[in-house]
Amino acid sequence: MGKKEKNEKAKERREKRLQEIQLLRSIPYSHHQRWWSKETIAVVTGGNRGIGFEICRQLATHGLTVVLTSRDASAGAESIKVLQEDGFDVVYHQLDIVDDSSINQFVEWLQESYGGLDILVNNAGVNFNLGSDNSVENAYKVIKTNYYGIKNLTQVLIPLMKPSAVGARIVNTSSRLGRLNGRRNRISNVELRDQLSDLEVLSEELIDRTLSAFLQQVEDGSWTSGGWPQIYTDYSVSKLAVNAYTRLMARKLSERPEGQKIYINCYCPGWVKTALTGFAGNNTVEEGADTGVWLALLHDQTVMGSFFAERREINF
Ligand SMILES: NC(=O)c1ccc[n+]([C@@H]2O[C@H](COP(=O)([O-])OP(=O)(O)OC[C@H]3O[C@@H](n4cnc5c(N)ncnc54)[C@H](OP(=O)(O)O)[C@@H]3O)[C@@H](O)[C@H]2O)c1
Repeated sequence: MGKKEKNEKAKERREKRLQEIQLLRSIPYSHHQRWWSKETIAVVTGGNRGIGFEICRQLATHGLTVVLTSRDASAGAESIKVLQEDGFDVVYHQLDIVDDSSINQFVEWLQESYGGLDILVNNAGVNFNLGSDNSVENAYKVIKTNYYGIKNLTQVLIPLMKPSAVGARIVNTSSRLGRLNGRRNRISNVELRDQLSDLEVLSEELIDRTLSAFLQQVEDGSWTSGGWPQIYTDYSVSKLAVNAYTRLMARKLSERPEGQKIYINCYCPGWVKTALTGFAGNNTVEEGADTGVWLALLHDQTVMGSFFAERREINF
């Protein structure tokens, strides 16, 4: 099969799956599946635009109380106005996931206003490559936001996650570009790949060491021969770290007793037309947000530490 034919087939499969999801979305959640209520608090980072804004809209449509957060307060105020004018129950608070004082103020406010949260959607992220670019000029910022931002916020919010019979949920927004064993875009060092794959060996230190090695090579200019992912290298490395962290946290969180469970998973929204892609892509924000919302609301929470796209589990 030629490349063009393969691409056509892939496009057909994608469109078929999106149609199936469209159908699934038209089926309302049954009473039995609706474990949430208006008292269920969902916090979404980077909620002022793109996929994050759409996640807020979809969660609010399902009747939860959504806390839309953004790093820029005036952008957040504009976004929240749109949802409130449509009659949705959405509240706002400023939150910059790389600013400790912003995180602390948010945590204090959340605790005082709602006593905690039930769902955290770690959506905020940055990317500075477009089209066929592959610059690592902003590597530090990308790793700091996409990985350390998620990690630090998650660590401070876990103690605030409300105990419940159905469990609290964390949804990390990742990308297929961060796959460890992706066919076209992966770390070439087999030993490192094996270590990052092996839950017995995986640790925060190993993730930190990997990121430090990458940033060090960016600093000294040797990264091109370092065997790092070939497309959007800094972004791919950051999402690879998000995936590894999701699996690691799933292992840690699975030790929590019944009634205090926290389920953590990650997902890829697909290639979505947002500012992050220069509005290029295959999917609308509605389609991109779908799997994240579906994971956040999943009734049967047997899944933990997995990676999803188009409502299906995919390989890390
Ligand atoms: N679009 C895609 O094809 C695609 C594919 C795979 C994964 N993703 C992931 O999906 C998520 C959402 O991206 P998007 O496509 O919706 O892009 P987007 O429209 O650029 O939205 C990114 C959001 O993250 C926010 N953000 C960035 N840094 C932040 C920080 N330090 N603190 C708080 N918020 C911050 C942005 O805020 P400002 O408005 O202030 O910049 C914006 O609200 C990201 O994690 C991205 O990596 C996207």
